Amino acid sequence: MRHSDMALKELIYTSLARQPGVMKDVKDILQSSERNNVATNVTGLLLFDGARYIQILEGKPENVQSLFGTIQADPRHGQIELLHSGEISGRAFHNWRMAYEELPVGLLEELAENMAVFAMEIEGETLDPTDSFGARLNGMFMDAIAAE
Ligand SMILES: Cc1cc2nc3c(=O)[nH]c(=O)nc-3n(C[C@H](O)[C@H](O)[C@H](O)COP(=O)(O)O)c2cc1C
Repeated sequence: MRHSDMALKELIYTSLARQPGVMKDVKDILQSSERNNVATNVTGLLLFDGARYIQILEGKPENVQSLFGTIQADPRHGQIELLHSGEISGRAFHNWRMAYEELPVGLLEELAENMAVFAMEIEGETLDPTDSFGARLNGMFMDAIAAE
């Protein structure tokens, strides 16, 4: 039997920046994340290509849900589309409060579409840290860092 406070959830969404290309917003967002995500033990990754965001949040279900509620109400972005939310048995971003990667313009359009397809394949499954959405994104993130 799983202890209730060990339950973990990952949530992935994509959205469009209200004002494309405004990098100050990202800086402010990461400062908030640094403060708040430590307190709630939410980890994850934020990708931004100047127009589109993709973010993954991992943590206790209630903390992830509450943060997503706050984020959804944030006027700095809109057209928020939930791609996937589901149970995981471990984190992919345990070393990162909120990892961040800035990507070339337009790259996230295709990525968001690919993720929507992956989300349909894994609907309802509990994923372990080697095949979670986070693990898949983490791999791409590390590749992007290595290529810099
Ligand atoms: C794309 C996007 C991602 C965000 N991610 C986070 C996050 O991971 N953690 C967080 O605390 N706030 C995040 N925010 C900001 C929240 O919407 C909100 O402004 C913030 O949590 C308010 O907290 P503060 O008053 O401490 O700054 C994000 C906002 C946007 C637009």
